[in-house]
Amino acid sequence: MSRIVLGVSGGVAAYKAAFVLRAFTEAGHDVRVVPTPGALHFVGAATFEALSGNPVTTDVWSDVPEVAHVRIGQSADLVVVAPATADLLARAAMGRADDLLTATLLTASCPVVFVPAMHTEMWLHPATQDNVATLRRRGAVVLPPAVGRLTGPDSGPGRLPEPADIAALALVALQQGADALAPDLTGRRVVISAGGTREPLDPVRYLGNRSSGKQGWALARVAAARGAEVVLVAANVDMPAPFGARVVPVGTAEELRAAMLAEAKEADVVVMAAAVADFRPEHAASTKLKKGSAAEPSAVPLVRNPDVLVELVARRAPGQLVVGFAAETGDEDGDVLAHARAKLTRKGCDVLVVNDVSAGQAFGRPDNAAVVLAADGSATEVPHGSKDAVAAGIWATITSQSPRPSQP
Ligand code: CTP
Repeated sequence: MSRIVLGVSGGVAAYKAAFVLRAFTEAGHDVRVVPTPGALHFVGAATFEALSGNPVTTDVWSDVPEVAHVRIGQSADLVVVAPATADLLARAAMGRADDLLTATLLTASCPVVFVPAMHTEMWLHPATQDNVATLRRRGAVVLPPAVGRLTGPDSGPGRLPEPADIAALALVALQQGADALAPDLTGRRVVISAGGTREPLDPVRYLGNRSSGKQGWALARVAAARGAEVVLVAANVDMPAPFGARVVPVGTAEELRAAMLAEAKEADVVVMAAAVADFRPEHAASTKLKKGSAAEPSAVPLVRNPDVLVELVARRAPGQLVVGFAAETGDEDGDVLAHARAKLTRKGCDVLVVNDVSAGQAFGRPDNAAVVLAADGSATEVPHGSKDAVAAGIWATITSQSPRPSQP
């Protein structure tokens, strides 16, 4: 159990802080909510007190013998400010201590995550951008805002990411520190495939696989948090889009291939996290296959699907990094890493992320572990953790890799 301070500043998105709080307490953490006085215009202190089980104060004149304005920050393992308004970012950048939240920010030595939410004009204003740069330079995480509907009819960058995205990313900063969400993918375009393809047998049946898409979702979320423009080619994934990602839905391996080849053209990094069916039924019936009918199959002939990863490697743009995934089990021909090294060579990608699925790990579960193999022969272990924590470990390794030199 860690001690998390949830700062809430005065924007209409303050109501979403209640859901972030809930996600932290459900993950087993002790949460102290520190709203600004403005935040309490939007959400009552009683809501935060009831959900956290801790007292809520906004000024430095309450609990004076406890020296709360110093103790809360000193004893925190993580401070998350969601939403962080333009005014809160300005006061934090200035080092003001005119309420309990800003005093807490000055006394915290743990990772600090700001989650901005404001109107687009305020976010893009040079004053705000300078404040964000100052806070990042001092080691804080400032997540890029989501793009979408704002208060009133406006739409654009400035929306608070969804509470599940905020909680997942904040817990990465708690476990791995602020560097895990460093904005080093800013200006980079990342294309990720996720989920599992479905190959139709007839209009109602398909050959599929057990991939849930959760690891690809986490990779997209962490890449967006690190500043990337993210395209997520999603094969049959029934989850809301992670913040920062444009989702391109696909069904079959052929559809995934077409989407990936189109999106990868302009990409700096291409990640094939999807489980692509190696085979598809040779014929997909146009009407439902009925028991006892003349069309009832006694066997289903299969044909090979194209290997999308190999095609992406063959067509990659100069300087583009291509990342493959492999779920492996050891057998009499070799252990997991031996199979993975052979696959890295066979596929020709720059990086191969390897999951050991010997004991049914990975599929559909919220946690994972991986080894990242690179073309330079290095193998980096990403320890067991949430899929977001593993995604952060994978990105940390990927960003340190350079692509293989392009073939002449
Ligand atoms: N892949 C792909 N197209 C396929 C099959 C796989 O792009 N038709 C990609 C996957 O997205 C993954 C990588 O290739 O990034 C490795 O997938 P895997 O199924 O392990 O590879 P296979 O070549 O099918 O190896 P195996 O013979 O072990 O199944």
